[in-house]
Amino acid sequence: MIKNFGINLNNKEMGRDIKTFHKLIFGDSENMRELEVGSVHLVITSPPYFNAPFDYPDLYKTYDVYLDKMRKVAKEIKRIMVKGRIVCIVCDDTLVKGKKYPVVADLTKIYIEAGLNYRDKIIWIKPEGYIRISRRSGVVLQHPYPMYFYPDNIQETILIFQNGEFDYRSIPQEIRENSKINLREYQEKKWYLTTWNIVNVLPLKTRLENGIAAFPDEIPSRLIKLFSYEGETVLDPFMGSGTTNKVSAQLRRNSVGYEIDLELAKIVKEKIDSRQNDLFEKDYEVEIIIRDDAKPLRNQLQNKVKTQKSVAKNVQRNSRRA
Ligand SMILES: C[S@@+](CC[C@H](N)C(=O)[O-])C[C@H]1O[C@@H](n2cnc3c(N)ncnc32)[C@H](O)[C@@H]1O
Repeated sequence: MIKNFGINLNNKEMGRDIKTFHKLIFGDSENMRELEVGSVHLVITSPPYFNAPFDYPDLYKTYDVYLDKMRKVAKEIKRIMVKGRIVCIVCDDTLVKGKKYPVVADLTKIYIEAGLNYRDKIIWIKPEGYIRISRRSGVVLQHPYPMYFYPDNIQETILIFQNGEFDYRSIPQEIRENSKINLREYQEKKWYLTTWNIVNVLPLKTRLENGIAAFPDEIPSRLIKLFSYEGETVLDPFMGSGTTNKVSAQLRRNSVGYEIDLELAKIVKEKIDSRQNDLFEKDYEVEIIIRDDAKPLRNQLQNKVKTQKSVAKNVQRNSRRA
């Protein structure tokens, strides 16, 4: 049972030598029984994109089934959050078989109903050339008349919720100073805006994150620096490749991750270990727990994606011939 890693600060006389702990749990995050009430200081996550054709085709039977799962996870998050702390949900409306699902609005409602306060919304803007799905805007080029317009999507939303009021005086001065925000970085990278321009990770075949829809390190990096103190605990209930955990280790925070897909265990371990630098003593510990409710998913989903792609190609080819 994880109580509170927050006190695991092991300051040596020379500088801050902090050992961090990372618990990677393979199992369904609708049940986070390994976490005690009030044991997590920050949540950063990106839930599965509802039945997104390139990542999770037909993973959920219906949109209602998806929303029910999100509701159960939100309830667990509310249970384990420290009072006053922040939950960041990276999400986007999803286009499935020509229909757009209002995921951002529905998740906002779900988290408010779970008892968290809606604090802010940041729009993450990706570079124009980084579109994964086909360019919908091209329709206007073929039919330059009103009503054919569908924009290309280069954004995602970061929803920010807060678990009640934060007591700024609860943090010792030394920890505040150790966690001080670099104002140059804050100004130069324009963290202060409601839009963040960040290059996304394209799930290329050669990448560790292939088929995972990972977010770039820069997202958890900014959020961890803005919303947590050194030695605290960051949770990602939809861990994927373990980006949040890796960055937490880099920024001297403990982390917990939940991931249902057993096939990602090797990738997560590899990713977190990629922060290991031969020059330094290993300053973090990783524990992997595999629960009965974990299941293999990735290969099955990727095979489905491949089949869909080849069917789409054949349809295109046949319609060109016709
Ligand atoms: C969008 S990905 C997260 C990617 C992650 N942010 C990264 O950078 O790699 C969502 C992940 O949630 C996992 N997942 C889906 N349902 C889950 C559940 N009920 N419990 C735990 N993990 C789940 C999926 O297998 C997938 O790996």
